[in-house]
Amino acid sequence: MHIPAWWPDVLRDCFDLDTRDTRTLQRNADALLRLSDHLNDVEGRRSRHTRSYLSEKDMLRAYLLYYTTANMLKPHVPFGEIAFPGFFRHRSSLRVLDLGCGPGAGLLGCHDFFEKRYPHIYIEYHGVDASQPALSVLSRIGESLRSRGARLEVRSHRADIAGFSSLSGGADVILMMNALNEISCRTSLLLQRLTALLGDGGRVVIVEPALRVTSRALLEFRDQAVREGWTVFSPCFRQAECPALNHAQDWCHTDVPWERPDFMATLDRLLGHVKLSLKFSYLVLSRDGCRLQDALDLPGPLRVVSEYVEEKGRSWCYMCGAEGRFRCRRNTRDASATNAAFDGLYRYAVAGMQDGEWRGAELLVGRQTVIHHVKV
Ligand SMILES: C[S@@+](CC[C@H](N)C(=O)[O-])C[C@H]1O[C@@H](n2cnc3c(N)ncnc32)[C@H](O)[C@@H]1O
Repeated sequence: MHIPAWWPDVLRDCFDLDTRDTRTLQRNADALLRLSDHLNDVEGRRSRHTRSYLSEKDMLRAYLLYYTTANMLKPHVPFGEIAFPGFFRHRSSLRVLDLGCGPGAGLLGCHDFFEKRYPHIYIEYHGVDASQPALSVLSRIGESLRSRGARLEVRSHRADIAGFSSLSGGADVILMMNALNEISCRTSLLLQRLTALLGDGGRVVIVEPALRVTSRALLEFRDQAVREGWTVFSPCFRQAECPALNHAQDWCHTDVPWERPDFMATLDRLLGHVKLSLKFSYLVLSRDGCRLQDALDLPGPLRVVSEYVEEKGRSWCYMCGAEGRFRCRRNTRDASATNAAFDGLYRYAVAGMQDGEWRGAELLVGRQTVIHHVKV
């Protein structure tokens, strides 16, 4: 994945952030360091109930430059899965509600995704946030995209997510990116709000940082959503409780390669970060019972939920499916034409398997085992 070619132009033209100018990047590094400490201190933020960081001009600009650049590509993954059964194919317009939109990663992600994959779709985008400065940036980005010919309109709503209700007709897609960990309202109340705001047949997409604490909170949210009648569309192929919650050290996230822009590499050096790939946790929920697996031609679909590890004499990964999470291993001497697809697996790949052999708690890929890898 790569950022859209027009993004550096928007940063320069609208916010005087020239990503080719090292001094501009250096000037933003201090604020970025403070911002990064703040965002990573999830527990501290929760106990202090702070969410005003985007009201500080320097922090907002630093967020826009670094976090918005990285976050805008994350919706592409869940959107791609929603698209798989044809959800977007016959639509001429789409109403997107972005809760906790901040300065606009969701808007940018929607525009980039639909411009590339479904350019005929007109986007009616609604951004909700408590921060007026962030909403002002969002509106400015919306104007800039429209002036570049984008087929979208942007409406911003200054409101608390837990109290927002003014969207008659409901949304086709509700997006909530990196906001769940900032919301203090009870999960059941948030689920009620989502039910009220989602249109018939709509999808809810939640993206969270791949930190253990935020990822596990998303998994707990997932389990409660299922208990309250929601269906997990993806990434899980299991509706029962999430097995990652059984062990306090486990969590679940994807890891997507990206072409890190040069200015992000410079900022990473200044910060001591290494954002070589995009790691994040996500969840897609439906109310109509729809699941990604219903569109896959796989008997018992599995999701790779760990690194794919290659060692001398064997390779292995953890997989998760309807029966839960287990380790899956293939000894190199058992590589065959029927299990060749095992080689191409990676974190969050979707696979199917026939005729594996259980060895205790581990599933062994033998010479006869058939592996399918479906690219979603
Ligand atoms: C980390 S930022 C995420 C911004 C954007 N979605 C992204 O992924 O880059 C979290 C946003 O949620 C907003 N937020 C947090 N709690 C909120 C609440 N209860 N009501 C409205 N907005 C809230 C903050 O103001 C902030 O803009």
